[in-house]
Amino acid sequence: MLQNIFSSLIDGVLLVSRDLTIQKSNPAVEEMFRRSKDFFEGRTLSELFPVQQDLLNKVESVLETGISYRDIECEGFQKSTATPFPVSLTLSPFLDQDGQIQGAVLLVKDMSRLKELQEFSRTLDNLSHMESLTLGMAHEIRNPLGGIRASAQLLRQELENPEQQEYLDVVISEVDRINRLIERMMDFTRPRELNIKETNIHKVLKDITLLEQEVMAQKNIRLEQVYDPSLPPIQADEDQLKQVFSNLIRNAIEASSENEKIQLVTRVSTGYSIKTSHTANPGQSIVVEIVDSGAGISESAMKNLFTPLFTTKSKGSGLGLPISLKIVENHGGKIKITSEERLGTTVQLFLPVQQR
Ligand SMILES: Nc1ncnc2c1ncn2[C@@H]1O[C@H](COP(=O)(O)OP(=O)(O)O)[C@@H](O)[C@H]1O
Ligand SMILES: [Mg+2]
Repeated sequence: MLQNIFSSLIDGVLLVSRDLTIQKSNPAVEEMFRRSKDFFEGRTLSELFPVQQDLLNKVESVLETGISYRDIECEGFQKSTATPFPVSLTLSPFLDQDGQIQGAVLLVKDMSRLKELQEFSRTLDNLSHMESLTLGMAHEIRNPLGGIRASAQLLRQELENPEQQEYLDVVISEVDRINRLIERMMDFTRPRELNIKETNIHKVLKDITLLEQEVMAQKNIRLEQVYDPSLPPIQADEDQLKQVFSNLIRNAIEASSENEKIQLVTRVSTGYSIKTSHTANPGQSIVVEIVDSGAGISESAMKNLFTPLFTTKSKGSGLGLPISLKIVENHGGKIKITSEERLGTTVQLFLPVQQR
């Protein structure tokens, strides 16, 4: 029965001897490290948890003193994928019948999923935190900025030296830049009512691509439109969707090198139903894809795409994606981004046909 319990545990168990070699492993730990049973026995602990001397010290201290440790956070290492994953360890002494310490038992919990959830909720926290912060501060910042700008302008008129005037021009233009940023942040924060009307997505896309034509021409970017003629009109706020598409297409252009292609694809969604707090019963939805073959997104940037103010661009605002997500979610839709570094990025927008 003990053997069965050992094999049935969903947490990993490792038994190590006094010289820190592994004596036994259970199926859960084999699964976690993506290794077969044979791999473990006889290996040293440091192969599973490399360069974590602190952990090895703790195991040593268990072996010497017999005390236990709980919830030690460290990283396991999967050889096959060569990537570390977060684990939480409980260490206890393994005693024989006479109460002598024979080794140590490690209980190994895989924390990957939990960590993901924590990161996700942190993103949400950021949002609400940002919202209250901006509303509170924007006002306080804008008033003195107005004073700074007016004074700088007056001073500029007094000065005769053009070099000194130039300094003040910098002050004025930088003040304007802060002002614009604050405006955009306030725009993001202010809850906006949806003005829902029957909306033809192809018309929205046409308006936006017309606006972006010039920027695309500068980089000689070719726009390919693959539209589904049977796409139904949807219930949506046209102006707000324009803002979304403008943000997403801008991002695609900015990620692209010269002479590359950007694809806009529309279709009726198959097999993907939107179920959010807004839409209890999933109905028909449409998909708009913006596909570029630009720089792509690194794995670390991927985690922060929707965090307000996150940008990898020297002149970026980091508000395009969070604003877009907010608008799309207000419509009961979703945004999905997949990317391959150096190969390009696909942004998928799912929008329900009917608002509920
Ligand atoms: N199509 C894309 N290709 C590559 N990176 C992208 C793409 N779209 C967004 N990103 C990344 O996401 C970041 C955040 O985008 P966004 O919120 O629009 O802010 P901004 O464009 O001002 O930087 C960008 O700085 C960029 O690193
Ligand atoms: Mg952007």
